[in-house]
Amino acid sequence: MIASAFRMKLAARVTRIGESATMKVTRRAAELRARGVDIISFGAGEPDFPSPAVAVEAAREALARGFTKYTAALGLEDLRQALLDRYRREWGAPWSALGQAAITVGAKAALFELALAAFDDGDEVIIPSPCWVSFPDQVRLCGARPVFVTTDPGDGFQIRADGILDAVTGATRAIILNSPCNPTGGMIDRADLRRIVEAASARGILVVSDETYERFVYDGPAFTSCAAFAAAHPETVVVVGSFSKTYAMTGWRVGYALGPPAILGGLAAIQSHATSNPTSFAMTGALAALAGAEADVRAMIDEFRVRRDLTVAALEAIPGVTCRPPSGAFYAFPRVAARYRAGEGSVEFAERLLEEARVAVVPGAAFGADAHVRISFACSREDLREGLGRIAAFLAQG
Ligand SMILES: Cc1ncc(COP(=O)(O)O)c(C=O)c1O
Repeated sequence: MIASAFRMKLAARVTRIGESATMKVTRRAAELRARGVDIISFGAGEPDFPSPAVAVEAAREALARGFTKYTAALGLEDLRQALLDRYRREWGAPWSALGQAAITVGAKAALFELALAAFDDGDEVIIPSPCWVSFPDQVRLCGARPVFVTTDPGDGFQIRADGILDAVTGATRAIILNSPCNPTGGMIDRADLRRIVEAASARGILVVSDETYERFVYDGPAFTSCAAFAAAHPETVVVVGSFSKTYAMTGWRVGYALGPPAILGGLAAIQSHATSNPTSFAMTGALAALAGAEADVRAMIDEFRVRRDLTVAALEAIPGVTCRPPSGAFYAFPRVAARYRAGEGSVEFAERLLEEARVAVVPGAAFGADAHVRISFACSREDLREGLGRIAAFLAQG
């Protein structure tokens, strides 16, 4: 809760949420670095690769030709059309009208605008947990209540239909899925996804599928987009995606949502008052990435697979630490509770790692799993080896 830090009176809704823990760790690591402390950061969730050259060149060219003014609230028509075409081609999605695709200021804005458009006071929103930090707080900001369904580390944190469907009540408004999952790397298989969509459709519940990490899949179930079930259940499925991770374009702030016209219309109304539109030339860069950066994406994923294996092997070698290989995304989510000192939780453990071992990790408590910490392996192999070596040496001291 952050209200007590301010003397000025804040709106009640702000008191329901906290600062993103990921940002907090990143900020503290940056502070120490600025003081000259040599920190290895496994905190931030962004690829260390450069954005694709085709995207940079297209954005540069757009700027040079003066493409620097407002666009339509839902963003560039060419980009919306390209996404509609892609989801129809790859997943048989039924969306064809431009009003069924919105370009947003990152996937984060798409998710928040969808929440504002769809969730009311008293609604329940089911979220598999551990989960990305912003899902529950976005739900709370809208006056709705997150209902967590725990995934099991012993099951590779796979998202299963049974637990989710057991949590449905008369107040359930939506289910938010995130496969591959941040922070666990867990996924959902096609049969479970189908069961969830069918049950949701029968009860008028919305399924919001955050597919930000769709391309980062190493093993486990093959990735299935929720779009595969949209033709059979057109009012139920909304897909959210991002250029941030797939194309190493986090700072460009380009994401999107595709779905039924009514809900996309609500999102459009909110976006028109909130951001007007995503940045014009950033969308031009995103369009170029979508069309011409496949080789960059593949090279990055191949490298991340190597880093995943390196990370998991190093963590598993530390006594008291267990880490199953994540199926997707680019985070290891080891269980470290056996190494906590008396009275310690993941926050204090992460603080100790940062201050004493000079390695930044994100405490699992931020994601609803206090026995774990999150380690991003989207950084160089050298940093991974050095940082994991520091953690091992630190824990070897007791
Ligand atoms: C699961 C998940 N969804 C959405 C986002 C937001 O991505 P974007 O940069 O597109 O806003 C993130 C970023 O970390 C994420 O992990």
